[in-house]
Amino acid sequence: MRKLSRGAEATIYLTKIFGKEAVVKIRESKGYRVRVLDERIRYYRTRSEARTIFRAMAAGVPVPTLFGVARFSICMEKLEGVLLKDSRITPRQMRYAGAILSLLHNSNIVHGDFTPANLIAKGGKLHVIDFGLSESSNSYEDKAVDLLLMKRAVSGPLYKHFSDSYFSSSRSSKAVLARLSEIELRGRYRLRTLGPATPGKSSGNQRSQTPQRQG
Ligand SMILES: Nc1ncnc2c1ncn2[C@@H]1O[C@H](COP(=O)(O)OP(=O)(O)O)[C@@H](O)[C@H]1O
Ligand SMILES: [Mg+2]
Repeated sequence: MRKLSRGAEATIYLTKIFGKEAVVKIRESKGYRVRVLDERIRYYRTRSEARTIFRAMAAGVPVPTLFGVARFSICMEKLEGVLLKDSRITPRQMRYAGAILSLLHNSNIVHGDFTPANLIAKGGKLHVIDFGLSESSNSYEDKAVDLLLMKRAVSGPLYKHFSDSYFSSSRSSKAVLARLSEIELRGRYRLRTLGPATPGKSSGNQRSQTPQRQG
């Protein structure tokens, strides 16, 4: 198998399954973790990612087809195309991305890292990858953070296309929009008064305080 990419948590290899190009995402062992714990974490994250890909597919979201799941690895279709972050992003693609995120959220799937680094573009279509940080959640806070990550990753006008499209098809537009403004205000207040972000209290779900990851 040829190595395609190496991230903080997993390595992606290129292979072939029944003559079709496929990728295998393997969560490798982290030497610094106690072995039992290490295996448990890798196992649960792999299982959670595979389940979410499956649920997303059932919700009509374009994701790679799952070919198989083992304890620490997921084998899936190799998508052709380029990462959105490596291409010239168009308004149309952003509207498409907004529609995809609303589909995910309407099924209570929060992606956790919904940025151009995890969208693969081909022709007029986009596919979502990397459900490693995703969760089943109906929290407005988690959903708003998904939007905020995209907002920070693209230009203002592109984000406007994305959010218009998202809010026109999201089932909880009002609540998510209100939470998004609240998080942004919180961020600004923190910057003015406390300096760098510190973990604080928030109403609702506690999972996401400060959006950070991209990749
Ligand atoms: N199904 C896929 N088809 C094509 N390329 C993929 C696929 N899954 C992952 N990749 C490539 O591997 C990279 C890393 O995969 P990803 O799931 O985003 O893991 P992470 O960002 O956690 O390292 C992606 O940026 C992409 O280039
Ligand atoms: Mg990624």
